[in-house]
Amino acid sequence: MRDKSLLKEDTDRVDGFDKVTGRAKYFAEYQIPGTTYGVLVPSTITKGKITGIDSKAAERAPGVLAVVSHLNRPVVAGYETGKDQGVPNNMMKIFYTDQISFNGQPIAMVVADTYERAVYAATLVKGTYAKEAFETDFEKNLSKAKAPKNPAQASYLRGTADAYKNAAVQIEASYTLPTETHNPMELHGILANWESADKITVYAKTQGVKATQGTIASTFKLPLTNVQVNSEFVGGGFGMALRTWPLEIAAIIAAKQVNKPVKLVITRDQMFTLAGHRPYAFQKVGLGADKDGQLTGITHEAWGHTATYEDFTENVVSMSKFMYNSANVNTTYKIVPLNVGVPIWMRGPGEATGAFALESAMDEMAHSLDMDPIAFRVKNYTEEDPEKSRPYSSKNLKEAYKMGAEKIGWSKRNNKPGTNKDGNWLVGYGMSTGVFNASRGRASAKGILKSDGTLLLQSAASDIGPGTGTGMVQIAHEVLGIPVSKITFELGDSSFPTAPSQGGSATLSTVGSAVSDVCNALKAKIAEMATQSGLSASAKFVDVLKKNNLPSVEVTMESKGGEEQKKYSMYSFSIHFVQVKVNPLTGVVKVSKIVSVGDSGRIVSPKTARSQMVGGAVGGLGMALTEETVMDHRFGRYVNNNFADYHVPVHADIPEIEVVFVNKPDPYINPMGAKGMGEIALIGFSAAVANAVFNATGKRIRTLPITPDKIL
Ligand code: MOS
Repeated sequence: MRDKSLLKEDTDRVDGFDKVTGRAKYFAEYQIPGTTYGVLVPSTITKGKITGIDSKAAERAPGVLAVVSHLNRPVVAGYETGKDQGVPNNMMKIFYTDQISFNGQPIAMVVADTYERAVYAATLVKGTYAKEAFETDFEKNLSKAKAPKNPAQASYLRGTADAYKNAAVQIEASYTLPTETHNPMELHGILANWESADKITVYAKTQGVKATQGTIASTFKLPLTNVQVNSEFVGGGFGMALRTWPLEIAAIIAAKQVNKPVKLVITRDQMFTLAGHRPYAFQKVGLGADKDGQLTGITHEAWGHTATYEDFTENVVSMSKFMYNSANVNTTYKIVPLNVGVPIWMRGPGEATGAFALESAMDEMAHSLDMDPIAFRVKNYTEEDPEKSRPYSSKNLKEAYKMGAEKIGWSKRNNKPGTNKDGNWLVGYGMSTGVFNASRGRASAKGILKSDGTLLLQSAASDIGPGTGTGMVQIAHEVLGIPVSKITFELGDSSFPTAPSQGGSATLSTVGSAVSDVCNALKAKIAEMATQSGLSASAKFVDVLKKNNLPSVEVTMESKGGEEQKKYSMYSFSIHFVQVKVNPLTGVVKVSKIVSVGDSGRIVSPKTARSQMVGGAVGGLGMALTEETVMDHRFGRYVNNNFADYHVPVHADIPEIEVVFVNKPDPYINPMGAKGMGEIALIGFSAAVANAVFNATGKRIRTLPITPDKIL
């Protein structure tokens, strides 16, 4: 589908070989002489006070160097008075308090000379507590919901509130999403090494080396340059590594206490309590339309949970404000504090939750109107952003609907549910739309052209898996015409020129623009040097460097978006189509075909772009059918905190996935015309599955995941 003329040279992943051969090094694989190992001791109660920590037996155990807790926490410069760890002030500090706010909250860290000895000694640490009543049940605590601090996030009104109640055709429905846990392959942690009293190097798992550097520096009141963060390879993040967690601060404090490097890798079950999750959410949607299918009102109310000690908010209802043409829209969003670890962004943060509700409701309305769901969406299509009253920088959704419909075989869909069969299985087709902000932030990059014919690029960007380096190399190749094999892009080092964290689908747009600008500046510099030294302006850079007796020429630049960012609404769009087969006897849902269409500007790196969309579909399938973090409210503990019980999709669950791109450059966003796709790959997907299940069975499932018991 892509226009090959836009691309000079497609390429494999530049780090693919290193990754599949094991040469790529992840934070936990670094070995510093004298490294010791940290293991966290979790609280066994959910709320209350620590009355004592008996660590004597642990301290006597073989190889143990220290048991660090709030009782003996060493004074680390700055930490005592530091208000926060780079995040809101009420964030829980580690080893700072005797208060327990959630089950599994670390009360101590054991440091030993081997990991195994630390694991054993941690079992010997006994906490005693004064227990208090706790709240972990979202539904039971809905009445305690509070508005987020940001009023724009709390509520929105365009036209008349609840206008849907006056419409000829109305639907009103509630949708529930369980807590979901990021489950990247790589466990979270850090390797912390104090080089001297006030200088530290860490190997971290992070989506932002500069963000981690900033948090560590502000927590311990160190100059930025005294904190070196390395994170070249990251084994998946999905949002969980977008902040520095108390557990990382714990390792840094412990390293100070034992005066040796400390490596901390948390366990899979600790991943469920210490490194965030997608919050539980309850949503109500009301839609009103006239008999011809024109929307006249959208009401979208959402509630999500947060922790008692820190507020986490996300944009759950924003899609309802701008996606469809409705004169009247009102939204509210509230958070419910619970005794759980604080949530964090998870792929398609906010929007993935909201899109499940809105895009399910759109399907319910289409059904009420007896309209085809695509025709209904096209009827309510907007050429202009109705929230901000300004044009979209680019939007090719009508084309995208057509492309996807054709690929999935939409014409085989019967608008009447429960009528399409394949043997004993009911067959259904569903679709939904996804959208996410497409931004271009500020980033810097350095480019060095060398007389050996190579180009080295550096930026403190991150790559949690999408293939950042591959995209950057292709951008440089397009500007300079140098073969991709001669270009290297280095990232994941906080001493490189500043780049933002990898999140919100913005890396290719933001860092890519810096790379593009740097390469253009290098090109101009070479041309100028060429003419000055009597060569033609188009002379090869190697010849220009040789003529000038220079080993290399270098440019470092900062780059950011301009006025166009305010003139246009910039979004990436996706459409997901699925075919499902439902067994009416067992309630089993099999997704039998997937077509995901991306409308995200020009595709810079076809292979990695396709990969992103495939990964999003797999994550979306998990959200739709299997993923649910289950809490036992008697104890305030998650009961399925492992890969056996928390079901992420496996190969057998995944059918053929076809990825299609509109691949039209966005004229305004950045020099590449490319928009992000990390989030849109997943956003909306779960609604497409729920809509297909309805089409197959006539049963509307409004609570994820769609497990067999809900079908029967
Ligand atoms: Mo993404 S949730 O911005 O890593």
